Amino acid sequence: MTSVWQDKVILLGVSGGIAAYKAVELASTLRKSGAKLRIIMTENATRFVTPLTFREVANAPVYYDMWQEPQSYDMAHISLSEEADLALVAPATANIIGKLAHGIADDLLTTTLMALATPLAVAPAMNSKMWENSVVKDNIAQLRQHGIKVIEPETGHLACGQIGKGRLPKEETILFELESLLWPQDLAKKRFLITAGPTREYVDDFRYISNPSTGKMGLALAKAAKLRGANVDLVLGPSQIEVPRGINVYRVTDAMEMLNTAASLFEQADVVIGAAAVSDFRIEKRFSGKVKREIWGEKVNWPLIPNPDILASLTKKRVHQIIVGFAAESEDLIRNANHKLDQKELDLIIANDISRQDTGFAVDTNQVVILGKNFKRELNLLSKEETAHKIMDTLVEIWL
Ligand code: PMT
Repeated sequence: MTSVWQDKVILLGVSGGIAAYKAVELASTLRKSGAKLRIIMTENATRFVTPLTFREVANAPVYYDMWQEPQSYDMAHISLSEEADLALVAPATANIIGKLAHGIADDLLTTTLMALATPLAVAPAMNSKMWENSVVKDNIAQLRQHGIKVIEPETGHLACGQIGKGRLPKEETILFELESLLWPQDLAKKRFLITAGPTREYVDDFRYISNPSTGKMGLALAKAAKLRGANVDLVLGPSQIEVPRGINVYRVTDAMEMLNTAASLFEQADVVIGAAAVSDFRIEKRFSGKVKREIWGEKVNWPLIPNPDILASLTKKRVHQIIVGFAAESEDLIRNANHKLDQKELDLIIANDISRQDTGFAVDTNQVVILGKNFKRELNLLSKEETAHKIMDTLVEIWL
């Protein structure tokens, strides 16, 4: 499985804040993911973390002095900016944000960024009062206007002992937002409604009927759509997975709740994808408390009634929406999937073989066949993220 970061040249700028130590971890992760790093530190940053630390962790050249002897005849700030696929400043202090907003280029980092022709993101980290300062706010707005991506800080404990907004975001957040700079924005202005995860149909207050879905496939689809510029509403059954910020997540428990939530979001959607493993049945009457074992006697009798089919009910209300389903099958994959395509009046169905250990429920990989009325695309065994992007490619190719 190839990583999106493989062989990408990332220019990492580090400015002088306490969060500079977190940039070391970030550099290490990017390196492990296959990226090639070039690091420029401001002079102040070198007081928090040494250039040697970055050099060793990232196995990359570290620059911090505008006047250091060049290793080649290329001017450092020009060659560094030219070879980068994208650049990130993390942490970005109020000082460097101000300089970037006003075209001040007085050290190696700012001169390099001034010459940059590839996308740039900044991840500000500072005291919350500084973050709220109207001058900083104006500067941030200015950066956005110039097409620079601002990865907003998080709220939490700050180095100064206060609690507020100003923490460098978690590594996953930075990497997710950074990754969007590598993707074509071919889903911009589209709105996706995606269902994911299992449903739980409660028997009493402590027992339920469910299935092993983790929500990974649905989340991979939500992330792929978001990375390519879409607005994403994710209706997610009970799941432990972490949803990146920027994806609107609606947490639900049972099929009826999933149906009602999806129905309320349907009108504004352009594309609907049902990746959820919805329980086909629910208990007719839920018991309260924890029902005693003795109550059942010799034979357990739970009257089950069918749940409504969420996707089929949405296709009945379709105006312009493209509606895609999944078919989780343990036998006769294509025939059963084609049957569901017709029965639910879908535009596409993702035939998902769940009979293998490395596909379907709970694993990180999947192998699917994308089926339409006159369309068939067989995908190899891929990560769920790669599978999701292939599904997005198909949607773009056929409709968007
Ligand atoms: O979540 P993971 O652990 O990553 O696992 C991923 C997955 C295996 C759950 C996923 O890839 C998948 O195959 N999802 C569909 C699972 C399923 O329940 O398929 P189905 O064949 O029973 O349903 C067909 C389609 O109708 C699905 O799009 C389903 O969301 C939808 N459906 C089903 C029943 C129902 N009452 N309402 C529905 O909308």
